[in-house]
Amino acid sequence: MLPTIEWRKDKVIMIDQRKLPKKEVYVECTDYNQVAEAVEKMIIRGAPAIGIAAAYGVALGLLRIENEENLNDEFDRIYRRLERTRPTARNLFWALEKMKNTFEKNKGLSLTKLKQRMIQKAVDIEREDLETNKKIGIWGKDLLKDGQSVLTHCNAGSLGTAGYGTALGIIRAAVQEGKKIQVYADETRPYLQGARLTCWELDRENIPVTLIIDNTAGFLMQKGMISVVITGADRIARNGDTANKIGTYTIAVLAKEHNLPFYVAAPSNTIDFNLPEGKEIPIEERDPREVREIGGRCLTLPHVKVQNPAFDITPARYISAIITEKGILRPPYEKSLKGLGR
Ligand code: MRU
Repeated sequence: MLPTIEWRKDKVIMIDQRKLPKKEVYVECTDYNQVAEAVEKMIIRGAPAIGIAAAYGVALGLLRIENEENLNDEFDRIYRRLERTRPTARNLFWALEKMKNTFEKNKGLSLTKLKQRMIQKAVDIEREDLETNKKIGIWGKDLLKDGQSVLTHCNAGSLGTAGYGTALGIIRAAVQEGKKIQVYADETRPYLQGARLTCWELDRENIPVTLIIDNTAGFLMQKGMISVVITGADRIARNGDTANKIGTYTIAVLAKEHNLPFYVAAPSNTIDFNLPEGKEIPIEERDPREVREIGGRCLTLPHVKVQNPAFDITPARYISAIITEKGILRPPYEKSLKGLGR
């Protein structure tokens, strides 16, 4: 299994996802600001993985505190810094809230004990995410039949989580059961999570993967070459509307046109019970250079205006099912998602 992120000897270690697949380089963070920057720069990315990073960031921030004076203010500063890193993934805020609860419950303890509790909580969040993904895989694998082709977008794999992955976890579970599954990976412009990360992960495990540019999906569907679509999610509103990597909506519409199932795989902590519908999900706008340039080389006029939303919203009506660790949820999602809060 791929090590995405871990707590080791009072440091946070993460694989530098910007460098994959060419280099396997690990980044060491010794303070919470470095963790925050790693999330912003997408050294680590993927909704569950940035949640885990934020939890470790809080633990690291507290670990560096030397006396109890202004403990609440210090905690607040750390929390606010990590909260500002990326706006869309619900998992990041969920993990920060969990860390805050642990802080509130234990801040009366000695500083040493408090630090231990905070580290333990972050480690638990990581461990539970791995278990959650395996459960998603178990629920989801029966949706795939031997010989099918699965289209996926972005990277909802080991690298976007504590390990195993959500969408790719389902594929892994089906393959482990002996099913022959062929994966089509959208390259996922501009950050190329599909080309660089999904292909790398699947290839390491000898799961057959074919890389396509983002515009190819419709053509392959028309030719009957795709059986199912599975993607991850960054935030799911109460009605099932789902934010995921830009381009997901386009594929969902295409899937409906071709009568193909479109599945979303995500842990239940991706669901934002405060938001009734998807239009309220904040969508991150990223640096125009990500679009203007590839590998530091300008592709267009250096001053051309760019729009670079990192995510889009797929309305619930396009989603055949949402696969969580608690089961397979079907429309109407207002009903099926209810009660999943934790
Ligand atoms: O910008 P990213 O790479 O963080 O976006 C990631 C995605 O959109 C993933 O599909 C999602 O977070 C699920 S990761 C299991």
